[in-house]
Amino acid sequence: MCGIVGYTGSQQAAPILLDGLKKLEYRGYDSAGIAILNDGAIKVDKVSGRIANLCELTEEGKKCPGTIGIGHTRWATHGAPTDTNAHPHLSNDGRFAVVHNGIIENYICLREELIGKGYHFDSETDTEVIVHLIEMYYRGDLRRAVIKTSARLSGSYALGVICTDKPDTICVAREASPLILGVGAGENYFASDVTALVANTRNAIYLDDGEFAEITPDGVTVFDPAGQTITKKISRITWDIEAAEKGGYEHFMLKEIIEQPRAVKATITPRIKDGKIVLDEIEWSREYLESINKIVITACGSAYYAGCAAKYTIEKLCRIPVSVELASELRYSDPLIDEHTLLIVLSQSGETADTIAAMKECKSRGARTLAIVNVVGSTIAKLADDTLYTWAGPEIAVATTKGYTTQVCVLYLVAVYIARTLDKLEDADYYHHLSSMLTLPKKVQEALDMNPKIPKMAKKYHATKSMFFIGRNTDYAIALEGALKMKEISYIHAESYAAGELKHGTIALIEEHQPVIALCCNTALMEKTLSNIVEVKARGAEVLAVAFKGNQEILSQADDVIFIPKIDTLFSAVVEIVPMQILAYYVAKENGCDIDKPKNLAKSVTVE
Ligand code: G6P
Repeated sequence: MCGIVGYTGSQQAAPILLDGLKKLEYRGYDSAGIAILNDGAIKVDKVSGRIANLCELTEEGKKCPGTIGIGHTRWATHGAPTDTNAHPHLSNDGRFAVVHNGIIENYICLREELIGKGYHFDSETDTEVIVHLIEMYYRGDLRRAVIKTSARLSGSYALGVICTDKPDTICVAREASPLILGVGAGENYFASDVTALVANTRNAIYLDDGEFAEITPDGVTVFDPAGQTITKKISRITWDIEAAEKGGYEHFMLKEIIEQPRAVKATITPRIKDGKIVLDEIEWSREYLESINKIVITACGSAYYAGCAAKYTIEKLCRIPVSVELASELRYSDPLIDEHTLLIVLSQSGETADTIAAMKECKSRGARTLAIVNVVGSTIAKLADDTLYTWAGPEIAVATTKGYTTQVCVLYLVAVYIARTLDKLEDADYYHHLSSMLTLPKKVQEALDMNPKIPKMAKKYHATKSMFFIGRNTDYAIALEGALKMKEISYIHAESYAAGELKHGTIALIEEHQPVIALCCNTALMEKTLSNIVEVKARGAEVLAVAFKGNQEILSQADDVIFIPKIDTLFSAVVEIVPMQILAYYVAKENGCDIDKPKNLAKSVTVE
């Protein structure tokens, strides 16, 4: 999704903005631009395509003198990804430039109103109304003009505005889109994401919805919609720069796959202390947990699949019904949710628009909310009654890996915690589950080490037009995420099916050499899945099976086998998904795909 940055200080602004924009590339974008204020005039440079094009156009920023500016990466929503639609947008009088992340829902009527008043529009974007409104409301006070403009906007926005009358000031505003101020010495910044700030400063102020700020080289002032100054806490960014960079790997995705043992350890180990689970500051009393009659998990994309994988564990251990709902569906479903529902919201970024909307909808119906998020201080973390962080560190590749596995880990902890509090687990089972969870980092490492042949297998399977992923129960849930990984980065059509459903339709699609990836790690259902393997093989499929080490039976049935270390089925998703991620990675590499930034996809989907 779009990313925004801004700088005001004594250094040349353009190279700093370009660096910041590069750090936001992972969010997904299709054009980029900067506006620099110098000698009383604003100069805008913007181009479609990659930031590299913008760097070339501006000679790495050297061609843009000036010590104050704003920058943007655009992920097209309203209007094609063209140079003209790229941000920043300029007012008709050239006095204001605006960058915007979000969507202005009432832009059509605002556009008509502004055209009626004589303003002309260059772009097809929703954003352009903002800069013309600012020009219309400006009476010599930028702060007032931005406040008045914001009051006219419906939708979501993080805005950065510069004005030729205020040669060292950037005005910013936030409503339902992330915006963070970076506090430096003699220079200050803003960005939609801390990754764009850490190279310059570790002191951050997280703006809340409805807040504004003025940023000058000497300081930042935050104010409310009435223009009254608010005192905000300065937080310390703890992510290090190296963690947000590639560290010698060819792609962020591979680095993040390999980081999983560490991420899983950081997420689980500190929460198992002195032989019991300690869930940070969450205090769910036994009475509260007894009052819950269902758990609803909501999320989008892989986070949704993380919920699907953990549903089995929660239901098995807690005996509470769990429904996993796509946030984009739940928000409009008039859901049957009340104060007896525990809503668990999963999100790596903590900023996904549909997830936020579903969460608000369920909160308004009385559900208590637990957020499981990776980004500290994100919107979802702030909205939730309780938050548990996945300590995965920054995830840059668009396709999530360690974000997914750490979400599943937190859900496992929650499952065992609730089951124990409700006295559904005997001591022996409880301690057994704790030790199973504590072995997960090692098992994930083994899953990485046991499969040096996957790149070779990728060479065999990469040229196919489609792949089927099959499994039962937990294996089916993991197949869903495996297929998603494959399609999003390799662009191969990949679908997952509950293996028992094959003969109700999908088997009609099986023909000679059709690759079928069969997940066979659910010990209780192994024989059933083996029968499905036999069925597809009889129709010519090539089967690549995933099974526990030591499973001899599978060798005689499948064409290729990926082994993983044996682990209790209750906790297997975190280990079993790893070879699926590696397979998708190497298939995408064989196909020459842009692995970290797949086409049409965005890391943080901040629009509906
Ligand atoms: C996008 C990303 C996915 C992610 C989904 C939900 O589609 O490409 O990797 O699973 O959004 O994002 P969230 O930040 O809420 O986990």
